[in-house]
Amino acid sequence: MARLSGKTAIVTGAARGIGAAIAARFAAEGASVAVADILADLARETAAGIAHETGQKVIALACDIADAGSVTTMHQAARDALGPIDILVNNAGVNVFREPLQSTREDWARCMTVDLEGAWTCTRTVLPDMIARRDGAVINIISNHAMVVMRGTFPYPVAKHALLGLTRALALEYAGQGISINAISPGYTDTALAQEVFDKSPDPAAARRSVEARQPPGRLCRPDEVASVAVLLASDEARFMIGENVVIDGGISIRMYEDSD
Ligand SMILES: NC(=O)c1ccc[n+]([C@@H]2O[C@H](COP(=O)([O-])OP(=O)(O)OC[C@H]3O[C@@H](n4cnc5c(N)ncnc54)[C@H](O)[C@@H]3O)[C@@H](O)[C@H]2O)c1
Repeated sequence: MARLSGKTAIVTGAARGIGAAIAARFAAEGASVAVADILADLARETAAGIAHETGQKVIALACDIADAGSVTTMHQAARDALGPIDILVNNAGVNVFREPLQSTREDWARCMTVDLEGAWTCTRTVLPDMIARRDGAVINIISNHAMVVMRGTFPYPVAKHALLGLTRALALEYAGQGISINAISPGYTDTALAQEVFDKSPDPAAARRSVEARQPPGRLCRPDEVASVAVLLASDEARFMIGENVVIDGGISIRMYEDSD
């Protein structure tokens, strides 16, 4: 039987990349899915494609997770179309990579509002229904920047470290009410976001090759490899996992003294 049969899910930032892969896997496992994204047209295209491939109910909802009103409207529309939400994946995120003293207050605010507060806004919106039904799973897509840091990427790791704190704080708070809250921390994953980083270097192809060579498996993570773990955390198979952070980074964050920088 499909592992998410009959469940309803909201995946934020699901118009493309890791979120789109998670939405597709959830639908393939029998869930009805809301593809919520600030890129409304792309979200519609992605949702239609997944619905066509899987035969599941997959809807697109325009939403800016930095705007609490937009999140409330999105949740209401998802609820109306799919029923009460069983699974929330907080995946939407942005890269704000600066040298700390060169960064502006606006950089800080954008990073914290989208990468950290957005997840809390979405979670606090779905939690009351989940608590009332004593059933729910929340999955935060963090990053290995939640455990290790890289120069020149400020304040992204600050937000991602805090998102791990948010995951643990909420996980413990609601574990007794039937809710499981966990996280996944991918390493370098082959998406538009990663490509944007390569494109900033003078030779994007060489930058990609260099990053690939530094990964212990010699390649980037694939979005579907993150989606496989998201299916497990969303399913009833993982309900005793509380506040965990599953790292999928090809082992780069456990490595010592093998790189020059
Ligand atoms: N790609 C990587 O190497 C990598 C590594 C670790 C963690 N992550 C994290 O995984 C998540 C997804 O990353 P991705 O690589 O798929 O990125 P992506 O840019 O391909 O997709 C992110 C999606 O989020 C949406 N989004 C951005 N801001 C939003 C907002 N305010 N409201 C609603 N939607 C918004 C974008 O429109 C986009 O569709 C992010 O949280 C990112 O930090 C990515």
